Amino acid sequence: MYVLLRDNYVEDDSGTLRFDYSKEFLLWALNPPNAKIEWTLGIRESKSNELVGFGSGVPITMNSRGVDVPMALTNFLCLKKNIRQHKGLTPLILAEGIRRAEISDVLQLVFTSGKILPTPFASPMYWYRDLNPEKTLHIGYSAKPMHLSLEEYYCINHVPENIVIDLRPMTQADVPQVTILMNKQMRELYEFSVIFTEQDVSHWLLPRPDVVYSYVCCDGDQVTDMVSYYNLSSTVMGNDLYNNIKCAYAWYSFAKDNSAERTIQLFWDALVLAKRNGFDSFNATEVC
Ligand SMILES: CC(C)(COP(=O)(O)OP(=O)(O)OC[C@H]1O[C@@H](n2cnc3c(N)ncnc32)[C@H](O)[C@@H]1OP(=O)(O)O)[C@@H](O)C(=O)NCCC(=O)NCCS
Repeated sequence: MYVLLRDNYVEDDSGTLRFDYSKEFLLWALNPPNAKIEWTLGIRESKSNELVGFGSGVPITMNSRGVDVPMALTNFLCLKKNIRQHKGLTPLILAEGIRRAEISDVLQLVFTSGKILPTPFASPMYWYRDLNPEKTLHIGYSAKPMHLSLEEYYCINHVPENIVIDLRPMTQADVPQVTILMNKQMRELYEFSVIFTEQDVSHWLLPRPDVVYSYVCCDGDQVTDMVSYYNLSSTVMGNDLYNNIKCAYAWYSFAKDNSAERTIQLFWDALVLAKRNGFDSFNATEVC
């Protein structure tokens, strides 16, 4: 499955970059609490037994306008490039996923797609912040605006040496408070959001080397802020110097009193921590 995705999963329009989810990442993403093995679907070539198609679902509780609904979060839909001409395989994977979810009394699937499908209820805008502009420019991952000199571009993308908020890696002892604060924020701010149990928070947020990085700030015994990001690298194709770019993707976070200023500082600090951890870019989506 790792190899199928590494060689065939999402590419940028220019064919320079392809997502390279690590094996550790995939194990994390596909094995949350109450994961159902039967929601992980593969298509094999009958003669070679090679995996040529894949799609997965994991259980998730979504708060939809005040009602908690069990859903399947579907992800990693992929067909090997040379079988995409056989039409009907994608609908087959999706239909089988839906059938298996329905057997478990889960009647809704939620997913993202690079292709516009009927009917989207939200669309995200991706934002990138260079942490290693020399590398990202060389790869073509980022582009320097014409009116800036190289020095000015490096200067704009400078990341401070130190964090301002007193953040430390999140631990198991933080899980109960983080669960309460995160669910409170989700319910108050969003019409449609994930709702977590403590087991979910332990799984999705406790730090895992090279997979997920989560930090909390505490006032005495009380957790006040949390910020996290995950590691999603991409293969760089056809470049003389680099074959991989390491990107930090903003994951869940909340700031003390939901203050906008504090949120901005939390993300400045996340940039500092991601740069320290060797990331080349910090990415976030704005959902409209
Ligand atoms: C996504 C992928 C599996 C689609 O396979 P394909 O053979 O190219 O499929 P097509 O684009 O011809 O679409 C076939 C059907 O699947 C649907 N479909 C395509 N991409 C989809 C997606 N991401 N989610 C749900 N349905 C999708 C199409 O709407 C179409 O439905 P229709 O027959 O009712 O019109 C394949 O292009 C692939 O592996 N791409 C790389 C990985 C990727 O982008 N995955 C999606 C991540 S969001």
